[in-house]
Amino acid sequence: MGDISVRAYAKINLCLDVVRKMENGYHEIATVMQSIDLCDDIDIAFSDGFSITAESNLHYLPRGDKNIAVRAAKLFFEASGTPPCGCVIKIKKRIPVCAGMAGGSTDGAAVLRAFNDYFSAGLERKQLEELAEKLGSDLPFCVAGGTALCKGRGEIMTDLTPMPKCRVLICKPPFPISTAELFSVIDGSVLKCRPDVEGMVKALEQGSVAGVARRMYNVFEDVLPQKYSEIWSIKSRLLDSGALGASMTGTGSAVFGLYDDEEAAEKAFAMLKKQYEECFLADTMEKYV
Ligand code: C5P
Repeated sequence: MGDISVRAYAKINLCLDVVRKMENGYHEIATVMQSIDLCDDIDIAFSDGFSITAESNLHYLPRGDKNIAVRAAKLFFEASGTPPCGCVIKIKKRIPVCAGMAGGSTDGAAVLRAFNDYFSAGLERKQLEELAEKLGSDLPFCVAGGTALCKGRGEIMTDLTPMPKCRVLICKPPFPISTAELFSVIDGSVLKCRPDVEGMVKALEQGSVAGVARRMYNVFEDVLPQKYSEIWSIKSRLLDSGALGASMTGTGSAVFGLYDDEEAAEKAFAMLKKQYEECFLADTMEKYV
């Protein structure tokens, strides 16, 4: 155990719309994000000197500035006025990588949160979210998690009625999809079908898992290159196995299903796990800040 231990929770997108391309090159989105209790464990050990590095059970994760957790630590020291010190950030990864589950983003956000507490820097949640935004589009949500409507690049957030607890089965096929790649093939201004974001918000207010599930929709599924067609077959298998709704999360490649029946979720997990190494059963969770 290091000097600080913190959990970094994954997210799923209950619905995801791409509205248009903005002047700054990013896309304006409208999405309902939801935290789940699948998490990475982060242990931070302080050391002499000023070097900040990352280590992970996944040998291919970057150890230096390419690792968002390292960038988050450096940004924290710069922005908070806390005298910098060296550390090793050990990341036990469980959240699949390049899966659309904010795996890297949530590690960065967790470091910001943990340092703020450890050094008693006194940054408010809003200030942490503003810092987080500098590191990536999904980071602001990951600061506090829960259930939120995210607009703009993802940084304009409104807290929503928490999603009623339900089981989430996640299945990631053995190929990654890069966020930049999928954003480069979507033109939000010509999409024919869009998620009913307002309806999703209302279903949450009514505490209806079935209402949420019926409104799950991710516009990136409509522009998926053929080479990723396995996503469709996973989605069908989730629905056939009793999921109330199934969708790709973010820009993929993970697909998830929502279940209100524990037994059905367990059975589906056992079935998919035979074929896919990266299968996980998780619960939805409320804000952690
Ligand atoms: O912000 P982040 O670094 O996570 O985004 C990765 C890439 O995804 C960006 O460089 C951009 O190409 C694309 N992106 C986008 N619009 C967003 C979020 C991401 O075009 N709202």
